[in-house]
Amino acid sequence: MRKKVIAGNWKMNKTLSEATQFVEEVAPKLEQSEQVDAIICAPFTQLATLVEKAKNTPLQISAQNMHYEESGAFTGEVSPVMLKDIGVTHVIIGHSERRQYFSETDETVNKKVHAAFEHGLTPIVCVGESLEQRQANETKSFVTSQVEKAIAGLDEALVAQMIIAYEPIWAIGTGKTATSKEANEVCQHIRQTIEEQTSKELADKIIIQYGGSVKPANVDELLAQSDIDGALVGGASLEAPSFIQLVEAGK
Ligand code: G3P
Repeated sequence: MRKKVIAGNWKMNKTLSEATQFVEEVAPKLEQSEQVDAIICAPFTQLATLVEKAKNTPLQISAQNMHYEESGAFTGEVSPVMLKDIGVTHVIIGHSERRQYFSETDETVNKKVHAAFEHGLTPIVCVGESLEQRQANETKSFVTSQVEKAIAGLDEALVAQMIIAYEPIWAIGTGKTATSKEANEVCQHIRQTIEEQTSKELADKIIIQYGGSVKPANVDELLAQSDIDGALVGGASLEAPSFIQLVEAGK
């Protein structure tokens, strides 16, 4: 039985004091659990402080992006070495907003996935189709392509350790959540793609999240699905009570 992974993607939100207040409220309320992992994906400015505040609690701290080089003339970028150095455990890679606004490509996603593993970080790789692609019945072929390119050249054992987040673009920030059937169908397809690229044993191990307008009111039905192993949550993760409810739902 796969554990659930509930991750809050704060995007570009919170001051350092707001973020600190959130973790000081939430972290002590989380019980160590074999069934669910709780992660907050915070902006770079907050990470070192939040790692310290979350120390010796079940809450893990993730970045929302990183460069694939270890160091160099990449003004404004943050390297995997820097993230590992401050105790970050995970990093979101390939979020649709980075693909849309910041020229993230399947090729840079793949380089970042390799770099994350090389530096002991667990990648949370985002895939998902646009409304036009769904309406054109291109969802499965498009997501298959994203998954295959993200894992290209990766040692099979590492594939099982990554997290894939299926986030249909048309459900992100819109309040229009995919139905649990729609979401599970694509997560099942992603697992099938992984099986074809590696093995059934590894495909059965990989954590596949759903993201796109997840909130306490709909999380139970989503997590009850056969191939949804958690959620990558934006808006509903910004408030402490809501995030705690989402984590509790994973148990
Ligand atoms: O990465 C999670 C995010 O894209 C989903 O946002 O606000 O629809 O939960 P939201």
